[in-house]
Amino acid sequence: MAFNSNNINSKSRKPLLSTFQSNLVITLFFILLFTVPALLLLRTPKTSTCALFSYYNNLKMWSGDLRASNFAWNRLLFPQSPPSRSLKIAVFSRVWPVGTTPGGMERHAYTLHTALARRGHHVHIFTSPVSNPAQVSAQQSESPNSSPQIHFHEGEPGKWRYNKAWEQFLEENQTEPFDVVHSESVALPHWLAQNVSNLAVSWHGTALESLQSDIYQDLARPPGEPISPSVINNLQGVVPKVLKEIRFFQKYAHHVAISDSCGEMLRDVYQIPQKRVHVVLNGVDEENFGEDLKMGVEFRSRIGVPKDGSLVLGVAGRLVRDKGHHLLFEAFPRLIKNHPDVYLVVAGSGPAGQRYRDLGPRVIVVGSLNRSELRGFYNSLDIFVNPTLRPQGLDLTLMEAMLSGTPVMASRFPSIKGSIMVDDEFGYMFAPNVESLLEALEQVVKDGAGRLAQRGNACRDYAISMFTATKMALAYERLFLCIKDEAFCMYP
Ligand SMILES: *[C@@H]1O[C@H](CO)[C@@H](O)[C@H](O)[C@H]1NC(C)=O
Ligand SMILES: *[C@@H]1O[C@H](CO)[C@@H](O)[C@H](O)[C@H]1NC(C)=O
Ligand SMILES: *[C@@H]1O[C@H](CO)[C@@H](O)[C@H](O)[C@H]1NC(C)=O
Repeated sequence: MAFNSNNINSKSRKPLLSTFQSNLVITLFFILLFTVPALLLLRTPKTSTCALFSYYNNLKMWSGDLRASNFAWNRLLFPQSPPSRSLKIAVFSRVWPVGTTPGGMERHAYTLHTALARRGHHVHIFTSPVSNPAQVSAQQSESPNSSPQIHFHEGEPGKWRYNKAWEQFLEENQTEPFDVVHSESVALPHWLAQNVSNLAVSWHGTALESLQSDIYQDLARPPGEPISPSVINNLQGVVPKVLKEIRFFQKYAHHVAISDSCGEMLRDVYQIPQKRVHVVLNGVDEENFGEDLKMGVEFRSRIGVPKDGSLVLGVAGRLVRDKGHHLLFEAFPRLIKNHPDVYLVVAGSGPAGQRYRDLGPRVIVVGSLNRSELRGFYNSLDIFVNPTLRPQGLDLTLMEAMLSGTPVMASRFPSIKGSIMVDDEFGYMFAPNVESLLEALEQVVKDGAGRLAQRGNACRDYAISMFTATKMALAYERLFLCIKDEAFCMYP
């Protein structure tokens, strides 16, 4: 029996490897064809802070047809006064967050559409059922007139069935037609979406970005560790997926890119006409995150960072492999050999938690934090570290840290470079490998807490002007108005 199954294995392994090799060639071809030009296009000129701020001020003076702009709409000024008309908005989201810790995409949907409902728009969410509907009605009844109306389709909790949602949408559309339809990624599939001209879809990651992600993850694999079967699987499937995606993306009327680099990719690689691609960066609820020095001091003492600790670094989020934690496991012990008074605070949960605990007393693992604790966490840090290996979407943690007045260090990815670290003043970037991370960490220690606090101030000012939920909601509102009525496309 054992012999037999071995035999089968070795037989099936051979063709797998050779397919893998030929796929590798195709993959490399793709990298050269698409990724490299895309990366080159993303070169951002080095500017001093002074020049940078005047550049943004110039943009605020910008005028024209918003559909022709290729920069993030967050850079513009939209009045906070009540909207000139209230819209009926349909939202397709696979999941609507209730109670649990939601992922980035669900948080985006929730933050955005709660804000739009508060501004007086009639928002209808079409989503999958939840296991705890009572909690939703509690959320709803807190502010019934300014909450989105949620339509759970029938079926199993958490299992998205777009055709059920579509039926409910059509029914609601018949009582009074929707002004605009918003899909979170492919919640609404392209064959249903293709005839909907008042549709905008927000992309939280593309297949091409996921190809880049696989490449970074494999490059960060320690020597001697075998390539993981899931990476092999992904690499084999991803190129046809990219091609398919480039073809079907055309069918959606309007595209919202959540980072500048994703906007470039949609225009230049996916070849979607410029006037149908709009960049609106994600935003973070500014009521939950902000500068609060007192909370930071309290948090430090509560978790036991001694007063003589010279520098406190922090990481947060899901503690999983694709967030690059193993780079930090390697780099941090090497850093503290020369600088024993540096601390690392780890928030979040996941398989990497135990390995952090094993690193000794300079690493403090605090587990998952609730919202107010997270606020204290960010404020307690001298610098926030994000060694992510996934160049997809845009990490909300970096924005949360910056809103808290904390500078950041992160992997040098097009999305991060193009939308977050737009000025050297905001922090440090590194290639996602141990040596480069260690070099950046050494520089951080050399610069010291005082210099980091200065950088933190610049981060806070920039984040308040760009990354708030209010800014995001106002930009989407304007986009939705523009989709409904061309007169609203002219800025200011
Ligand atoms: C919604 O209703 C309006 C008005 O009847 C109609 O023009 C539109 O096509 C409907 N939308 C969809 C997606 O069917
Ligand atoms: C979209 O329109 C085309 C052409 O009018 C039609 O053939 C197709 O069935 C429509 N698709 C949907 C999903 O309504
Ligand atoms: C968050 O956790 C802290 C400490 O565990 C607790 O005191 C606080 O009430 C919690 N806050 C919320 C909003 O749940």
